[in-house]
Amino acid sequence: MRLSQRITSVVEGGSDGWEVHTRAFGLKAAGHAVTMLTVGDHDVPTPAPFSDALVASLKGGNVGYPPIAGSPALRAAVASRVQERTGVPTSGANVVVTPGGQAALFASMMTAFDPGESCVVVDPYYATFDLTVRAASGQPIRVQARAEDGFQADAKAIEAALTPTTRALLINSPNNPTGAVYTRGTLEAIAELCIRRDLWLISDEVYESQVHNGPHLSSRSLPGMAERTLVVGSMSKSHAMTGWRLGWVVGPEAAAARIADLAITTTYGVPGFIQDAALAALRDGADEEREIAARYLRRRDLALGLLANRPGFHVHPSNGGMYLMLDIRPTGLSGIEFAETLLDDEGIAVMPGESFGRAAAGHVRVALTIPDEEMAPALERLAAFARRHAETRAAV
Ligand SMILES: Cc1ncc(COP(=O)(O)O)c(C=O)c1O
Repeated sequence: MRLSQRITSVVEGGSDGWEVHTRAFGLKAAGHAVTMLTVGDHDVPTPAPFSDALVASLKGGNVGYPPIAGSPALRAAVASRVQERTGVPTSGANVVVTPGGQAALFASMMTAFDPGESCVVVDPYYATFDLTVRAASGQPIRVQARAEDGFQADAKAIEAALTPTTRALLINSPNNPTGAVYTRGTLEAIAELCIRRDLWLISDEVYESQVHNGPHLSSRSLPGMAERTLVVGSMSKSHAMTGWRLGWVVGPEAAAARIADLAITTTYGVPGFIQDAALAALRDGADEEREIAARYLRRRDLALGLLANRPGFHVHPSNGGMYLMLDIRPTGLSGIEFAETLLDDEGIAVMPGESFGRAAAGHVRVALTIPDEEMAPALERLAAFARRHAETRAAV
């Protein structure tokens, strides 16, 4: 039977960018020693109080159909968190709870553009971004953020790429994979562009609690932006709840109401006991949230200390999130070659920059998601591997 073009075009060219990770995972499952520095998943379990809240809710009988847009209490808790952190008046009516930030991305795109219209994606980007635009029947337009600019988005380059069908711009700060945190200047230039060209801004802020130097700035708080910004949030990274699938969209009330309509046709809401656990985490989990963010800052500092001024690569000084980008072009290898060979020779798995678009070619992303005592020796071996390749290249 013929499959729809919409679904067959989601993964373009048969590659979803996760091949190195999948191979590494298979090797590990087969008993090989592999150090996984590929995924943005925590190496520690969800804090016990959040799990306890889930069990209590489940045993207490919250197992029926949930309120589809989220429980009033959870929507209100997300709203007050957002209002406290951004100063933007926000109520539960601005919030829709979704199964993770990924579903919030899809819902935002379904809200912002119609089939065949386009959405600008800043490259490098989280590996699902272009897939999600296509799943929502849109056309991704990739605009590169340059390594030389610290991977800051460039509003002028974005404007030059707009077409008459462009309805939305998707940004992500703190950024996966680059660790870039957009400056106020970058965000103001983007806001000015969105207002002038009447674009939706989809602002993926799932790493907002992991800004290493200073407070997070949300685009929705800039003048004139609350009415055209859809903020994607999640408990995955901030509260070590990746597998729980709990996120949200925050946006104008009219958009939130439509996103709730969409949820009727897709997820029919997030399980009530998971919502109750998220509510407990938002109400009482400030210490745990701080501790999780501090872990990535500590590892970032440890990794930067270890990897600074080594031959064979250059480290981008990540300002947020759970990752580090290494520019490995001095080795003469592509990101894919580097990652494949590093896995074969050293049993270390990293993500090729090419998995995140074109602007990160010649880079690899290292996830800081293993214990410090395992991370340090793995990074030493990675550095020695890069040096060997750069020396071999120099000798040719
Ligand atoms: C930038 C970005 N957005 C969204 C997501 C999806 O997060 P969630 O687990 O909430 O679906 C991720 C996950 O890695 C991410 O890195």
